Amino acid sequence: MPYVTEDTLTDIALERWKDIPDPRLKEVMTSLVKHLHAFVRDIEPTQAEWATAIDFLTRTGKMSDDKRQEFILFSDVLGVSMLVDAINHRQSNGATPSTVEGPFHIPDAPVMGNGANMAANAPGIACFCIGKVQGLAGESVTGATLDLWQTDGEGFYEAQRPGIDGPWMRGIYRAQPDGSYLIRTVAPIAYTIPMDGTVGELMNRTNMSHMRPAHIHFAVNAPGYHGLVTHLFQAGDEWINDDAVYGVKEPLIVDFKKMPAGSKAPSGELMNEPFYVVSYDFVLERKAQAAAA
Ligand code: BEZ
Ligand code: FE
Repeated sequence: MPYVTEDTLTDIALERWKDIPDPRLKEVMTSLVKHLHAFVRDIEPTQAEWATAIDFLTRTGKMSDDKRQEFILFSDVLGVSMLVDAINHRQSNGATPSTVEGPFHIPDAPVMGNGANMAANAPGIACFCIGKVQGLAGESVTGATLDLWQTDGEGFYEAQRPGIDGPWMRGIYRAQPDGSYLIRTVAPIAYTIPMDGTVGELMNRTNMSHMRPAHIHFAVNAPGYHGLVTHLFQAGDEWINDDAVYGVKEPLIVDFKKMPAGSKAPSGELMNEPFYVVSYDFVLERKAQAAAA
């Protein structure tokens, strides 16, 4: 083995990192060393720049805890979270595409009746989501649940309303036996990713958008089908082509149909104010049957 020079260092490090019994860890670590060395050779950082990078990562770690995950946000704005999601959800053609869960999901939302209002005390324009949960062949899916979370009409999630006695803007709906669902909420609005941390510091040195187009998060599950975590985005939103975390996939852009005051809502109610109707059928992929014994 030669002594270390700028030219030989990568090969020497790679040789050393091959000495790992776990084949997956070996694959990951040798690839990491290879790509990190290539990155450093590409940018040729000064000592001061490298110290700044280490300081950035250190502060990002210190900001992260069970309530705030600045490292995940860093992965989100780099497009890495959506890439990991895409690699892990290579759905069949026709299945509803997945997106990242994001930091605002709170488990154990209240269970709501079909058509119940999960935004009863929240500001915003009333919005009804209607549709079906079905399989790839168009079959009705029975026993589906839809777990929703979103901002209120002022752009805030429950976690961003510290004074609130939750739950706020979230609910779990059970689809009807034929797979149909009816949800009442308020329309979400576009909002900024958290900009008061290290990621915001970095974003502020770029011309990139830190906005997310208006969306509603859905986690859809049914027995015998692969679970789906996704968003529905409002067509025509100013930031639809500029989502800070790369979450927008074309089949997830939906028309929020504006209805005038005096119209009948999908619930049958006559509405005194204008409201939106969002129609969407979620398509789930069936799990492979276990091989017959
Ligand atoms: C969101 O839930 O909207 C979100 C996802 C990733 C980063 C920031 C916010
Ligand atoms: Fe969101």
